[in-house]
Amino acid sequence: MAGTDTGTGAARAGDGRERPIVIVGASLGGAKAAEALREAGYRGGIVLIGEEHERPYERPPLSKGYLQGKTPREKIHVHPPQWYAEHDVTLRLGTAVASIDPAGHTVTLADDGQVEYAKLLLTTGSVPRRLPVPGADLDGVLYLRRIEDSDRIKAALRPGARIAVIGAGWIGLEVAAAAREAGAEVTVLEALELPLLRVLGREVAQVFADLHREHGVDLRFGVKVTELTGEDGTVSGVRLADGTTVAADAVVVGIGISPATGLAEAAGLEVDNGVKTDQHLRTSDPDVYAAGDVANAYHPLFGRHVRVEHWANALNQPQTAARALLGQPDAVYDRVPYFFTDQYDLGMEYVGYVEPDGYDRVVFRGDPATREFIAFWLSGGRVLAGMNVNVWDVTDPIRELVRSGRVVDAEALADPDTPLEDL
Ligand SMILES: Cc1cc2nc3c(=O)[nH]c(=O)nc-3n(C[C@H](O)[C@H](O)[C@H](O)COP(=O)(O)OP(=O)(O)OC[C@H]3O[C@@H](n4cnc5c(N)ncnc54)[C@H](O)[C@@H]3O)c2cc1C
Ligand SMILES: NC(=O)c1ccc[n+]([C@@H]2O[C@H](COP(=O)([O-])OP(=O)(O)OC[C@H]3O[C@@H](n4cnc5c(N)ncnc54)[C@H](O)[C@@H]3O)[C@@H](O)[C@H]2O)c1
Repeated sequence: MAGTDTGTGAARAGDGRERPIVIVGASLGGAKAAEALREAGYRGGIVLIGEEHERPYERPPLSKGYLQGKTPREKIHVHPPQWYAEHDVTLRLGTAVASIDPAGHTVTLADDGQVEYAKLLLTTGSVPRRLPVPGADLDGVLYLRRIEDSDRIKAALRPGARIAVIGAGWIGLEVAAAAREAGAEVTVLEALELPLLRVLGREVAQVFADLHREHGVDLRFGVKVTELTGEDGTVSGVRLADGTTVAADAVVVGIGISPATGLAEAAGLEVDNGVKTDQHLRTSDPDVYAAGDVANAYHPLFGRHVRVEHWANALNQPQTAARALLGQPDAVYDRVPYFFTDQYDLGMEYVGYVEPDGYDRVVFRGDPATREFIAFWLSGGRVLAGMNVNVWDVTDPIRELVRSGRVVDAEALADPDTPLEDL
């Protein structure tokens, strides 16, 4: 196993030679890890390798402000361009890592170069699931993960354009909202009976269905897409199993992601719904760590492995990973998951973690019809998660309720006059 000495700034492999810490995946997770290593006092080499050409940036604006033309490109990056040189971080963009050799402590690049490491951090994130139907490779069939995807979708969101969105998850709904605001006609095609059903459950998913219907989105649930039709190589419609076809000038597909585990799997690391890690974000190889979308990390609060596909996780996990790989034994990741969305005039934050069938009751504080409320998911009287919609500055007490695991009185929980701190 390699040792890392933050005092001297040296990271050494088993043979005692100094080698850098290598981070694969130059996005939010990777850039935050480089920052956390420097903040922790590490003065040795850091090599941050990413296959995208853009320097590390955040993805949430790609389906919101950036897509709507409200947030400029220069506002979405994690660090200013000079930050990398100023912090002695070697940033290698446009460079894909092809394989990892854990025994040799080496990564091989797609262009055949090699980089040795003392410790390796995987922040390879995730990739969109592809629609497995005929016609899915036609022009005008668009996915959303990278900045250039957002540029392509933005170009399609013209007044009067017919946009078909496949999948009523986060991507589908946020793109639908941006498309309506741009004056496009929007049809959303979802396999399940409600949007966001597996994340929010029936009670709260209905709020999002009502919101989009009120904004003129044609929502169709329980549909099966069988084919994308085209004319002259460009998509013209979405054919459904019931024989109907939805005409479209562009189709946006948002049917979920898969964690980018290929490198880890080929290197023999333990992979199961992501790269498996312990609570220190260490993988089955003691010199390899993982963080962000790709990591299925043991979470001490929940007593099981959890993989979180959200911004706050990619923001915060790297701090733990950086400290852990510098040898700090108290570096444990046990934050309660958090995420947010903005759609039309609805802003919300969600804190907690609930599996689809993991709750027995939803309690509302406020009327969901007014779109100013807090929803709580409970099991056995304990709050597992809470979501504040157009109500602000309540995340801390909700997080505390979730973390404490204490049984709460449901009537008091629903009562807006009872401070959350008093429950
Ligand atoms: C459009 C969009 C909007 C979102 N909005 C929200 C939101 O509002 N709220 C929220 O909480 N979350 C949101 N998310 C989710 C959030 O952006 C992700 O959870 C976050 O980006 C994960 O960060 P990451 O660094 O782990 O991985 P990623 O952002 O996926 O980055 C991984 C990087 O690794 C690179 N890479 C992969 N393999 C290799 C390789 N072999 N060699 C070199 N480089 C490699 C990839 O090219 C990529 O640049 C959104 C996501 C998208 C796509
Ligand atoms: N606000 C946020 O937190 C936010 C915003 C955008 C993206 N993201 C992240 O980006 C990633 C991708 O988002 P996403 O919306 O693609 O995934 P998702 O998992 O949120 O939703 C996918 C949706 O597609 C549906 N679906 C799956 N296959 C289908 C099919 N063949 N036909 C019709 N519907 C189908 C699912 O039932 C689900 O409703 C996720 O990790 C998500 O967390 C998060």
